[in-house]
Amino acid sequence: MKILLTGSNGQLGNTLQELLKTQENSLGTLPEEYKDCEVIAVDVEQLDITNRNEVSKFIDENRPDLIINCAAMTNVDGCETNREAAEAVNAHGPENLALAAKETNAKIVHVSTDYVFRGDADKPYVETDQCAPVTAYGASKRNGELKVIAATEKHFIFRTSWLYGLIGNNFVKTIRKFAKERGALTVVNDQRGNPTNCEDLAYHILLAAITQNYGVYHCTGKGECTWFDFAKKIVEYSNIPCTVDPCTTEQSNRPAKRPAYSSLDNRHLRETVGDHMREWTVALKEYIQKLDSIENN
Ligand SMILES: NC(=O)c1ccc[n+]([C@@H]2O[C@H](COP(=O)([O-])OP(=O)(O)OC[C@H]3O[C@@H](n4cnc5c(N)ncnc54)[C@H](OP(=O)(O)O)[C@@H]3O)[C@@H](O)[C@H]2O)c1
Repeated sequence: MKILLTGSNGQLGNTLQELLKTQENSLGTLPEEYKDCEVIAVDVEQLDITNRNEVSKFIDENRPDLIINCAAMTNVDGCETNREAAEAVNAHGPENLALAAKETNAKIVHVSTDYVFRGDADKPYVETDQCAPVTAYGASKRNGELKVIAATEKHFIFRTSWLYGLIGNNFVKTIRKFAKERGALTVVNDQRGNPTNCEDLAYHILLAAITQNYGVYHCTGKGECTWFDFAKKIVEYSNIPCTVDPCTTEQSNRPAKRPAYSSLDNRHLRETVGDHMREWTVALKEYIQKLDSIENN
């Protein structure tokens, strides 16, 4: 099998490359289908997904069986102030890939976000719940989903949330840095969601992608918390002496208004390949042990 990974320098792109190389992680071993697979890993320098002609030419020449799109503009506040760029990368980019996938009969996995929802629910969102993004980032990601769905039936849309991987920047690394530097932190306690380890997400993407169970999937860590709860666990597992105090969204004063409640229910996974996502605290603890051992070597 030939797999094209776009946005391969990012958190998820790196994790998928590593998993396809090692063929296993803490969740298990990959299905036989991935043995000896050929991986073409590209980021914006090699393939800018916003360029339709370039994307079409590249995919026509390389003929992957599966395209996994990890490329995105993920800076939520940055998307708010540069909506055109957000739309280009998060909506037109995936459309270009999906149109080329249709042309060449490839399957496509496109990764999306919990921020496609309004965030005012009182229970976890299922895949069929109505989308109503409240940020420019969420709106651009929702447009991307719709464009992929319209372009080809052989699509898997994987919505995830609060993602962290070993390579790249994320909330866990930021909290560890600030905790060490400042010894006291204030973190938002009125937004709830699901922290997700990239390894767990990557494993489930690859389980689903060899099936023909196309459609939208939610794929997040088990259990929900606030950013404040998340930060407290990060500090605790990292053994950093630091106090963490709660604050409100209003006090945090960020440009983009985040959804208050964006917890996801992994229903489609449960009904198909199985939901083996780990409890968020378990996956976080292992991640921090890995970070520690990388930093201490
Ligand atoms: N991070 C989260 O908390 C989170 C939460 C929910 C959903 N998601 C979704 O999960 C997916 C993976 O996220 P991630 O955290 O792995 O993202 P990431 O670390 O920001 O990686 C995205 C990669 O895409 C590249 N890229 C940007 N514009 C591109 C273009 N025009 N063409 C090709 N590549 C381009 C980026 O390069 P540059 O760095 O040079 O821009 C970066 O290497 C995304 O779809 C994201 O929306 C993420």
